[in-house]
Amino acid sequence: MKIDKNIVLIGFMGVGKGTIARELAKQTGIFAIDGDDMIESFANKKIKEIFEDDGEDEFRKIELNLAKFLEKSVSNAIISTGGGFYKVKNLNKIGTVIYLKSSFEKIIDRMKKSSNCEKKFAKRPLLSNLEKAKELHDQRDKEYEKKADFVVIIEDKSAKQIAKEIIKFIQKGKN
Ligand code: S3P
Repeated sequence: MKIDKNIVLIGFMGVGKGTIARELAKQTGIFAIDGDDMIESFANKKIKEIFEDDGEDEFRKIELNLAKFLEKSVSNAIISTGGGFYKVKNLNKIGTVIYLKSSFEKIIDRMKKSSNCEKKFAKRPLLSNLEKAKELHDQRDKEYEKKADFVVIIEDKSAKQIAKEIIKFIQKGKN
């Protein structure tokens, strides 16, 4: 499959942006890249360590630089992003923005059921307090919707199904 623009996945922590990016790559034959992985390579440390050593503000600065880089230098890619990346000003210039939407409860349930559950929570500093994380989810939900070209409700759907819905939307835009 050919795309005119990058496909940018946004959504809350743990919603499965990386999983869906990989499924999209499989179904389209287009390379998938992950924003947080790029930040870790750039900073040469884990996200958790960036938060601990340098603070969240420093992490957000790196996100802004990543956004500039993606806009200028990356095309024809599927890009999964960290849960706060949607705030960058040039988001919609990077590509077609897809919001993977789910209730907070379903995200947490899904994470708890996964095989590497502890690791998934441990690597996300903003999930250390679930009450605060729920507030963040509910506040961001509306902001994600505003920024998105397309919203996919992912609850109770397989990765395969979700990727198919996204591809259908992208192909419709091409006609
Ligand atoms: C964040 C989400 C994380 C990571 C960082 C901050 C956020 O990515 O970028 O911990 O602000 O929501 P995931 O969405 O992949 O967990």
